[in-house]
Amino acid sequence: MGKTATSTSSATSKKSNMTDEKTTKASAANKKEDSKGASGKSQAASTAHEDTGKKVSAKRNAAKDLNDLFEDALKDMYWAENAIHKALPTMISNATSETLKRALEDHRKETKDQIDRLDKVFHLLDMKPKGEKCDAMAGILEEGEGILEETQTGSVRDAGIIAACQKVEHYEIATYGTMVAFAKQLGQKEIAKILKSILDEEYNANNKLTDLAVERINKEADNQ
Ligand SMILES: [Fe+2]
Ligand SMILES: [Fe+2]
Repeated sequence: MGKTATSTSSATSKKSNMTDEKTTKASAANKKEDSKGASGKSQAASTAHEDTGKKVSAKRNAAKDLNDLFEDALKDMYWAENAIHKALPTMISNATSETLKRALEDHRKETKDQIDRLDKVFHLLDMKPKGEKCDAMAGILEEGEGILEETQTGSVRDAGIIAACQKVEHYEIATYGTMVAFAKQLGQKEIAKILKSILDEEYNANNKLTDLAVERINKEADNQ
């Protein structure tokens, strides 16, 4: 991402060197604690967290700076939005409430427009639009289809469809929220603005679904 990205990159690497130093000191301290034996260990447990998780080595193409991390998120969301656009017609066909169908149809149109805006973000970064499979969204969409198999047609299924779609919206809100913050940090004002416009739509879509569920569909499902 041009100059800003480069300067951020060197700042990030300085920061990460400092963090490495801290980590080395911390692990040296842990070794000392270990050598104290059982009584030393129980004392240490009250003052420091237990380092029991497995260490994960970075892949060869792992993100080196915030810009790389941002681009990874962009490719993930490009894949995710296309998958959502493809999955929504099944949700719409299986919904009973006309209001719910309309809300999902409207958001599908918005989703298509969001894909076009992500295309623009790639263009602004001089990148070819390219998605990378987002495992989290793939799982959420798979679970959404599973809800259709687990419910009878009617308001119970509608309540399930809303629950599934809200998981999608929440994931989008989390990711676009992060991406807006990354873009701002990287000095990409125009990109931050585009992503913020998508984030606002995801919030609106989620709020509409909440209103529909709380004001009507959950009650109908409860009476079915
Ligand atoms: Fe979206
Ligand atoms: Fe959405």
